[in-house]
Parts: sequence; structure tokens; C-alpha cells
Amino acid sequence: MRQYLYISTAVQVPAEDLAAILGSCERNNPAAGVTGLLLYNGRNFLQLLEGEQDELERIMRRVEHDSRHQGISRLYDEGIEARACDAWWMKRIALGEPGEARHERLDGELPQALDPHVRRLILNFAMLN
Ligand SMILES: Cc1cc2nc3c(=O)[nH]c(=O)nc-3n(C[C@H](O)[C@H](O)[C@H](O)COP(=O)(O)O)c2cc1C
Repeated sequence: MRQYLYISTAVQVPAEDLAAILGSCERNNPAAGVTGLLLYNGRNFLQLLEGEQDELERIMRRVEHDSRHQGISRLYDEGIEARACDAWWMKRIALGEPGEARHERLDGELPQALDPHVRRLILNFAMLN
């Protein structure tokens, strides 16, 4: 199994487009066995995807060619023993309140099984604005 984390820059993604993206995730990820989480701060995406290598790459190829974002930058790409986001076929993690309260809530909301380095990358992104 593989885990893949990237950030990208959104190209005019209104709120309803995020719903469309999450709709695609719901449609495709369970069959592909791909789980993960998605953060959107109005400018940038951060997405964690995990699953069996072939299926993960198939989904990633589609995501990489999606014109709703650009400048995909890979932060983490490693083999894993077990998935961290067990039954999250793509969970939208809302940023909500700013500051320390956000940090605390997200720290509790992120899966316990996340690699500490990956957890830190996600929290750092979440605290950028
Ligand atoms: C930031 C971002 C994340 C996405 N994540 C996924 C994903 O996890 N799974 C997926 O099937 N499509 C995802 N998509 C959408 C795909 O790029 C593509 O539009 C979709 O898979 C097409 O399938 P559909 O015809 O069933 O909608 C994502 C798109 C963006 C912009």
C-alpha cells in the first residue's frame, strides 16, 4: 500500500465545485479502495490519498490532469503497512475557526494512525491562514 500527500493551487474553485470533487470521490474511491482526506483553504488544496499502488496511481493520474488545480507539489509518497484513514473515502476536513482552537480541533480530528511527520505537514498547512 502507498500513501501520497500533495498540495496544489486551486484554479477558480467555488464552493459548489468542491461538492463536485467530493461527489467524484464518493463515486470512485470506494471501488478503488482509495481513502484519505482533503483540505481546502480557498486558495490551496492539500490531499492525502492512500490505497493499493495500482488503484492509487489510477486515481492520481486523473487528479493530476484536473484543470481545477495546478502546481501539484508532492510532500510525501511512501509505502505503508496499513491505511491511516480507515473508512474515509475522502473526508473533507473543514478549517473552521482560526488560531490555536483550530490547531487543537484538527489535532483531535486527524486519524491517530497518521505518521507523525505527515500529521505535522497537514497541521502546518491548516495553520497557514
Ligand atoms: C483537489 C482534487 C482532488 C480530487 N480527488 C479525487 C479523488 O480522491 N477521487 C476521484 O475519483 N476524483 C478526485 N478528483 C476529481 C478527478 O480529478 C476527476 O475529475 C474525477 O475522478 C472524474 O471522475 P467522475 O467522472 O466520476 O467525476 C479530485 C479533483 C481535485 C481538483
